[in-house]
Amino acid sequence: MNKTIKKCLIISSGGDAPGMNAAIRSVVRTAISYGISIDGSIGGFQGLIENQIVSLNARSVGNIIQTGGTILKTARCQAFYDQKKRQKAMNFIRKQGYDAVVILGGNGSFIGARKLVEESNIATIGIPCTIDNDIVGTEYTIGFDTACNTALKAIDHIRDTAFSHDRNFIIEVMGRSSGFLAVEVGIGGGAEFILIPEFPISVSALTERIRHQNCDKAASIIVAAEGDQPGHCFQLADKIKEKTGIEYKVCILGHTQRGGSPSARDRSVASLMGSKSIEALIYGETEKIVALNRNTITLNPFPSESNATRFFSNKKLLEINHTLCDA
Ligand code: F6P
Repeated sequence: MNKTIKKCLIISSGGDAPGMNAAIRSVVRTAISYGISIDGSIGGFQGLIENQIVSLNARSVGNIIQTGGTILKTARCQAFYDQKKRQKAMNFIRKQGYDAVVILGGNGSFIGARKLVEESNIATIGIPCTIDNDIVGTEYTIGFDTACNTALKAIDHIRDTAFSHDRNFIIEVMGRSSGFLAVEVGIGGGAEFILIPEFPISVSALTERIRHQNCDKAASIIVAAEGDQPGHCFQLADKIKEKTGIEYKVCILGHTQRGGSPSARDRSVASLMGSKSIEALIYGETEKIVALNRNTITLNPFPSESNATRFFSNKKLLEINHTLCDA
């Protein structure tokens, strides 16, 4: 079914992710190619509450494909959970005459998007953007590849100093409650141990393995997911020291992983997903996210509030890494 869309709004929401700008560029230029006028909300949902929007054209998204962050700014907008404030946003949407919304973000953003559809009935399509790669319904989220490469580069740097000083390191990566980032980075960085919330390992089991490896390795690297507790690696290092006497220095990569120029993969996925989002709206789709599954760009329903987060499940990868690093 073809639907006439005249005026669309684009919102970037939640944590920024490298490749968001490439997606904005694609959404804006695809919309314009179909004769749809397009505005951007400034600062995510907050922009709707405060009536902060900007009109976009092909030139306003020039020279941004290679930049990190989001030109539209973003926020984790608590105010959007407040019904009265949401109502204000809905009134604004109606007044402006938008008939479609594209929203870039992660799980929290799609919960907001769901409310938007429920309460205003405006056609809405989501584009998954988060370095965590943790959204149910898509095997890939924009920003993941860049974040992995950023973290990997940091690990390579740490390796030099670890080798020179015969030192051990725990490197904490982001990922919120999921371990995708840690596994990818741990394998790529040759980490001796990868610690993720999905397959927890007790401190005793870990120290047992560390003791075993310490016999013939002068320096080792643990990559640990933040697991919803950023900074927990300092306590882990203390516990390891207490049980084994072996010292681990801690490096928390934190928000360095969120910035930077997007990788080729993130730019191209963002460009394809952006284009698909507008085509989906024209075909009358709503309440769906653009997904990348089995190397194909497709559509899936918005993740449900109770089952929005995707967790790492391929234990075999951890076993392979163990074999490679325990030899
Ligand atoms: O969701 C992306 C992410 O970077 C997570 O990996 C991390 O836990 C969180 O955002 C940090 O959020 P904030 O930037 O709001 O501190």
